[in-house]
Amino acid sequence: MRHIVESQQFTVPKILELFERTELMKKIALRGGTRDYEHKIMASLFYKPSTRTRFSFEAAMFRLGGKVLSTEQAMEFSSEIEGERLEDTIRIIANYCDVIVLRHHEEGGAKRAAAISPVPIINAGDGSGGQHPTQALLDLYTIYNECKTLDGLSVAFVGALDYGRTVRSLAYLLSKFERVKLYFVAPKEIQIKPDILEHLDEKGVNYQLLDNIGEIIGKVDVVYQTRIERERLENKHVDLSQYNINLDVLQRMKYNSIIMHPLPRSVEIDHSVDADPRAAYFRQAENGLYVRMALLTMIFDK
Ligand code: CP
Repeated sequence: MRHIVESQQFTVPKILELFERTELMKKIALRGGTRDYEHKIMASLFYKPSTRTRFSFEAAMFRLGGKVLSTEQAMEFSSEIEGERLEDTIRIIANYCDVIVLRHHEEGGAKRAAAISPVPIINAGDGSGGQHPTQALLDLYTIYNECKTLDGLSVAFVGALDYGRTVRSLAYLLSKFERVKLYFVAPKEIQIKPDILEHLDEKGVNYQLLDNIGEIIGKVDVVYQTRIERERLENKHVDLSQYNINLDVLQRMKYNSIIMHPLPRSVEIDHSVDADPRAAYFRQAENGLYVRMALLTMIFDK
């Protein structure tokens, strides 16, 4: 595991090893951190905005005792603005660090970087229809932590699923577990793309495409809500309110189900839901720190 580019590269034993390490990292972070990695430098190179991914990776590195080089808007504050190719930028930055965390605006950006980088590349989200493997790993860890299993679960993905890189990456990971049932709930204009469904067919995963959550909200273990960009459905006469989670929807959910969201959210989860113990999205974001500490140490220790 030199680079982390897409979620398919993680096997079940690797995922379970990561989760074991994540438990340890949580203990280390909660007691203030360690100096074990004080000679390591992480570069965070973000061509697109980020709150959770960049801050949690940088916090992870600090909690491990390491150092961080960072540009939060590489489109403007890197040589991209002078026309430098991603490959050249990566070759240069790799001279100054031990790992590069990259959010690139083009699908396939992380793969291009990994193909030439002398130091490990971690994909922090590529393009709008690519992948976000570290988000999917923290999502999976959250499900494991909250539901106490990864087998036999039913998960409903809701929202803009076609270009949802977190949904795409998490679907790949969930397909590795037994008796999983996936529901993709979205207006047909923004439903999950066929490449994911082909993968699920190959793996024999049970799934269903739906256009409203009413049918399944009372029986799923996990509702994985995502943002719908309203402008994408202009003039399509789609009632987006039927995809929102509010107190009425909450009442129809199982008492032990959870609501997740990679965040940021807009109106798709009402703020009144936040106080319910089933609202797991802030715990999910917290887990990002521990999972990313674990991923960095797996790279550094190999
Ligand atoms: N979930 C996620 O990737 O959030 P950011 O865009 O804030 O990093």
